[in-house]
Amino acid sequence: MTNYPPEPFRIKAVEPIRRISRSEREVVLKQAHYNVFNLAADDVYIDLMTDSGTGAMSDRQWAALMVGDEAYAGSRSFLRLKAVIEQIFGFAHFVPTHQGRAAENILCAVRVQPGHVIPNNAHFDTTQGNILARGGRPVDLPAAEAADPAADFPFKGNMDTKALEALISEVGAEAIPFGMMTVTNNASGGQPVSMANLQTVSEILHKHHIPLFIDACRYAENAYFIQQREAGWGDKSLPEIACAMFALADGATMSAKKDGLVNIGGFFAMNDDELFRDVGNELILREGFLTYGGLAGRDLDAMAVGLQEALQSDYQEYRVGQVAYLADLVRQAGIPIIEPPGGHAIYLDAGQFLPQIPRDKFPGLSVVAELFVQGGIRSCELGSIAFAHPDPATGEVIYPPFELVRLALPRRVYTQAHLDFVGDTLAGIARYADSLRGFRITYQPKLMRHFTAHFEPV
Ligand code: F0G
Repeated sequence: MTNYPPEPFRIKAVEPIRRISRSEREVVLKQAHYNVFNLAADDVYIDLMTDSGTGAMSDRQWAALMVGDEAYAGSRSFLRLKAVIEQIFGFAHFVPTHQGRAAENILCAVRVQPGHVIPNNAHFDTTQGNILARGGRPVDLPAAEAADPAADFPFKGNMDTKALEALISEVGAEAIPFGMMTVTNNASGGQPVSMANLQTVSEILHKHHIPLFIDACRYAENAYFIQQREAGWGDKSLPEIACAMFALADGATMSAKKDGLVNIGGFFAMNDDELFRDVGNELILREGFLTYGGLAGRDLDAMAVGLQEALQSDYQEYRVGQVAYLADLVRQAGIPIIEPPGGHAIYLDAGQFLPQIPRDKFPGLSVVAELFVQGGIRSCELGSIAFAHPDPATGEVIYPPFELVRLALPRRVYTQAHLDFVGDTLAGIARYADSLRGFRITYQPKLMRHFTAHFEPV
């Protein structure tokens, strides 16, 4: 039994939450067409839909908001953020963006042409969507160890580097405008990437003159796992490890709504001067001037403080420890999860948990719906609804490796008692799991359907 790690903070402001009745939950879920993205957040008791933008800011971040400089160009806030980003990430240039996908959009707008191929350990859905929207082909190359959800391999977020070499010889380096590495690897379980793997990927890409961009959303959690699990890094500080990670890359897209510990914000950082010029033009056209990129000056200040707080070791110890505690509760409920637990979330293996439901009837959604009806808990399907997509070349449906349900923990928000409630609710669902039957789609859009699709019970 993992102990619950005591929080390295105390609570200074509280936000009331309430649990509507079970019959009310049934009604609102039906009205939402069984898509929890359509629920009013007030009808949710414990919201584990995402760890993105849902964290609690520190008193220092709130104080930083007050000194935000709202000058259109060259604000003090920008310069403060610039200093922090230079120190942590070390790239020559960066532009603020309103969130991660805006950075991805700009990268794809200026570098992806129809027919291009972009490898990643596993693309997150927004990255996948942005590449597809430009006519490119996103290719996931997860390490073989990630195929076994029960395996305890410490770096299941790694890329299969042999597959990367094979892909480059198959399509040719000129068809690959850049490669990516997502740390931690959200789409395949929030699993970390080792420094050794990052180094090999960097060497392979650079040998072919292909730049490497890190999707850095959860880089601080990844740095903590490297410190804890990878030989040779145990005595290095988290900032030192982060520095070493980014030294292997040519740039990074960042959603600061995760390890930037802010409610909104992101950036795109890079070394290449020509790329920076192209990015700047695109940014000004769509997001805002180079020194604010669609954010308020105060947002930049909160981000500068948050980026530093996320690299504090007592914070990461608590953060990753809290996730491990929830993992224990889920295991005790008898529900299989992606092992070992990652940095920001627990991923339930709904395919294994509900073997009677076929993939096109979405076992993950059954778990999501039951968690809401039983406990008022909101979670997120990350299986076939989120990731199955037609191959642009053949039209054949490509299924993701697993039918997952993610319980993501907002940063610094929920307490041990909240997590115990989630564990009890899951234990209750496990007792009648074999009676669940799945869902069918009644409406879906072309891209990123999980946000807006409608469903009905089978
Ligand atoms: N990359 C990864 C790995 C992500 O997890 C996300 C967002 C993004 C990029 C895009 O960032 O939301 O700021 O535009 N993930 C959220 C999640 C939405 O719930 O995992 P964004």
